[in-house]
Amino acid sequence: MTILNMTVLKTEGLSKTYGSKSGFLYQALEDIHLRIEKGEFVAVMGPSGSGKTTLLNILATLDRPTLGRVEINGTDPSLLKEGEMAMFRRREIGFIFQDFNLLDTLSLRENILLPLALDKTGVEECAARLREWAGILNIREILDKRTYEVSGGEKQRAAIARGLIHAPSLLFADEPTGNLDSKASREVMESLARINSERETTILMVTHDPFAASYCKRILFIKDGKLAGEVRRGANRQAFFQQILDSVSVLGGNRE
Ligand SMILES: Nc1ncnc2c1ncn2[C@@H]1O[C@H](COP(=O)(O)OP(=O)(O)OP(=O)(O)O)[C@@H](O)[C@H]1O
Ligand SMILES: [Mg+2]
Repeated sequence: MTILNMTVLKTEGLSKTYGSKSGFLYQALEDIHLRIEKGEFVAVMGPSGSGKTTLLNILATLDRPTLGRVEINGTDPSLLKEGEMAMFRRREIGFIFQDFNLLDTLSLRENILLPLALDKTGVEECAARLREWAGILNIREILDKRTYEVSGGEKQRAAIARGLIHAPSLLFADEPTGNLDSKASREVMESLARINSERETTILMVTHDPFAASYCKRILFIKDGKLAGEVRRGANRQAFFQQILDSVSVLGGNRE
């Protein structure tokens, strides 16, 4: 059987220049060409200030490039009208953040269901999807708790459920383990890896943590706003971890 690759995300010549009130221009990204196929699990690594968040925000349509283009499932989001853009974003994109971004006044259940409320999904469909994702992320028992009653790892797993409940074609994550201890980080990365392999969910995450990155299948390195190489995982995660450590030490990819 031939398995055809399906490109979910493509960029051509992506650049981003930030301007300031004083007129000083700063080029945060320069000429980024990349391609991500359906079912990939990709990490972006690089030193602090290298442009990782800028890249992720542009790919996730939260920001616009200065030059170049992004294509998500064949559509260039910058060509969409405002109303279409909101729909496109809701359909195609899920996002998880370092600080979880859950609403403290709502229960985990209500937080997770928010993306479906916006789409006016029926009650039974909402309940079925909630049951499914809460099971996958092992948070069924705590759905009625509020954010301040659960641990960081539980919050992030609820945030992953919220990021995926509307079945987006891409999940973006900016430092999803950045506020977690090592046990919670491992649980979050194991959840993401399982979701990626069992559901073929395409995931792109930014991380400075080589251990978290070792759960991905491909790592893109970025330095001074430019792509600076990539490594792909073989069968052995431990060997991949070592390979990532070596690349990070060459590129100066750690935050410190
Ligand atoms: N809104 C903005 N206006 C001006 N400059 C910005 C803006 N956002 C980011 N920058 C600059 O662009 C560069 C890249 O920032 P970015 O946040 O993408 O880095 P990063 O790789 O995510 O860093 P970190 O690892 O610290 O999160 C930095 O020098 C930053 O100061
Ligand atoms: Mg960042």
